[in-house]
Amino acid sequence: MITLNPHFLELKPSYLFTDIARKVEAFQQSHPDRQVLKLGIGDVTLPLPEPVIQAIHNAVAEMGTAEGFRGYGPEQGYAFLREKICQADYTQRGIGCIQPEDIFVSDGAKSDTGNFLDILGQHLTVGVADPVYPVYVDTNIMAGRAQQIVRLPATAANGYQPGPDNLPQALDLIYICSPNNPTGSVASRELLQRWVDYCHDHHALLIFDSAYEAFISDPDLPHSIYELPGSETCAVEIRSYSKKAGFTGLRCGYTVVPAALKVTAEGRPDEVSLRQLWNRRQTTKFNGVPYIVQRAAEAVYSPEGEQACAGNIAYYKRNAALLKTSLAKMGYQVYGGSNAPYVWLKVPAGFSSWSFFDYLLEQQALVTTPGSGFGDCGEGYIRLSAFGSYEATQAAVQRLQQLPRQI
Ligand code: MLT
Repeated sequence: MITLNPHFLELKPSYLFTDIARKVEAFQQSHPDRQVLKLGIGDVTLPLPEPVIQAIHNAVAEMGTAEGFRGYGPEQGYAFLREKICQADYTQRGIGCIQPEDIFVSDGAKSDTGNFLDILGQHLTVGVADPVYPVYVDTNIMAGRAQQIVRLPATAANGYQPGPDNLPQALDLIYICSPNNPTGSVASRELLQRWVDYCHDHHALLIFDSAYEAFISDPDLPHSIYELPGSETCAVEIRSYSKKAGFTGLRCGYTVVPAALKVTAEGRPDEVSLRQLWNRRQTTKFNGVPYIVQRAAEAVYSPEGEQACAGNIAYYKRNAALLKTSLAKMGYQVYGGSNAPYVWLKVPAGFSSWSFFDYLLEQQALVTTPGSGFGDCGEGYIRLSAFGSYEATQAAVQRLQQLPRQI
């Protein structure tokens, strides 16, 4: 008899952004005359950079010739892209511990974050910040670890980046998202070093999600976990072209599993290379990212590509700055938005995250994301995304200014 994976029944009935999309759809249907402004899901709005488009055209033309056609590619990604990533994102930034063979090109950070659990043991205690990107939690619930998730409060008091002190119990697997989704906070070098040291002391693994690293402009803040000594033996890093280069629809990212990272299996004494196991998983379950998309990702690193992406990021950062400064002037408590595309806003007294979300939708046709959707500690906050157009962001600010001062 066929049965279900019972752990899927432990999940909330639907994914956060699906719930929001449903509410917005219902609002649009009942108010067809209102122009809805979307500061909800972190989806980019600028078109793909020109050098990326050109690379796609060239790759399509190549695929249409007998000499240039390619069928199945390497599951780990083509060497041209892995080498480029290694050189541009690591070697040239002074990180010598990463080799092209450590880099696995993927269809994005979200899927890799979940897929990586395939190769980890069942009885792990998992540490996540609260609020948190829901994928870390949901994928662990799907894998049967609902009772093994430890939520570490991320609050104004710790700069929305919890540290490894005074943990309620020892952790085996730790997720850090920096720059952070949803709070827009960024982990300092000192904090990350403490987490790396913690991992060494407790034989724990760190999954470092740096999907938003391109938004860091403060030179003191680390872009990669591998900037921290010792991290290559305890950390996996996951990156994405979604927000950096506008690939949310194109789909490409990568996961770094350093050769030096070794872990034992439960009940077995020998250390096994995590990279080797991830390679085994990928070659079985994944046929690689399309050649055309990998050529598009390669173009991100050309001088013209770098310049175009930097321009797009500056554009979104201007939106974030506009939101943050305008809301602060209006008297709201706001956080994030400086080295990240998200602004984290404390809702006015008397509101919950969801009731303020509903209020903004009903009163001003503004879509945000309720903080409680990211965890209990997100209650009392909403998240605003800076990925809209500048005009839409300005219009959103104007609508927020129209709200009564004392709601
Ligand atoms: C978000 O809005 O949190 C992100 O767009 C989700 C994602 O990147 O999957």
